[in-house]
Amino acid sequence: MANQNAAPGARVRNELDESIAADHVRDMFNSIAPTYDRLNHLLSFGLDRHWWKKTARKFQTLLAKPESRVLDLCCGTGDMTAALIALRPAKGVPVVGLDFSSEMLQRARNKYASANAEWVEGDAMHLPYPDASFDLITSAFGFRNLSNYAAGLAEIFRVLKPGGQLGILEANQPDGFNGLLYNLYFHHILPAVGGLLSGHKAEYRYLPASVQRFPRPPKMLQLLSEADFARADWDGLLLGAAGIYSAQKPGN
Ligand SMILES: C[S@@+](CC[C@H](N)C(=O)[O-])C[C@H]1O[C@@H](n2cnc3c(N)ncnc32)[C@H](O)[C@@H]1O
Repeated sequence: MANQNAAPGARVRNELDESIAADHVRDMFNSIAPTYDRLNHLLSFGLDRHWWKKTARKFQTLLAKPESRVLDLCCGTGDMTAALIALRPAKGVPVVGLDFSSEMLQRARNKYASANAEWVEGDAMHLPYPDASFDLITSAFGFRNLSNYAAGLAEIFRVLKPGGQLGILEANQPDGFNGLLYNLYFHHILPAVGGLLSGHKAEYRYLPASVQRFPRPPKMLQLLSEADFARADWDGLLLGAAGIYSAQKPGN
């Protein structure tokens, strides 16, 4: 059963200390970086590509403005960032892709060497930007890995401009019959295949465990409104196995 109040954020080994939990998350992504893309596409049946594009399209109007400042948090190997850039005018302000795993980020730099992007190694919990810096912040399958969700939302809120928008694409544990199918795949097949092909069994056990402890949509929408976001919404995908949260910082 999902225990939504188990912790305020991600834990790899039930760490009590949030910064130690974050260190473990970073170590884990550094270690799986070489096989991350291949396994991600395989284990999501290629749906990841479709979902990154769908998330970007939600913010098409904002992305079309050359002056919009856009930050893709927890950008990993850069595919969500690239989906955002695809909807930007050629001479627009570069999209910032930020991640704290140097190994994941290096792959983004190599894959998208000529893209209109700025790749930044940094921590989503302590963003290296002044207040009100961005018009749009996105995160794809990254927010769930933060060591404190409420603090992560507060930090996003701080660096968004008034009226700025937030889009979070995240996995979700569905309920009911869909949940049974999902559990079979996500808790049994995926860790076995992922562990075997990557050689990192523990890391592929973290994946379903992290989704299980991530707030379900009603709780996440509550966290968004407690963080003072307006117009919080969730758009479910694949029978609720994933979804896109959107919200706006009030003002302008
Ligand atoms: C599952 S990957 C997602 C990568 C990419 N967005 C995608 O859709 O494929 C999660 C990423 O979040 C990053 N991450 C987790 N916690 C972070 C933090 N506190 N600050 C920056 N990046 C973080 C990890 O390093 C990892 O690259």
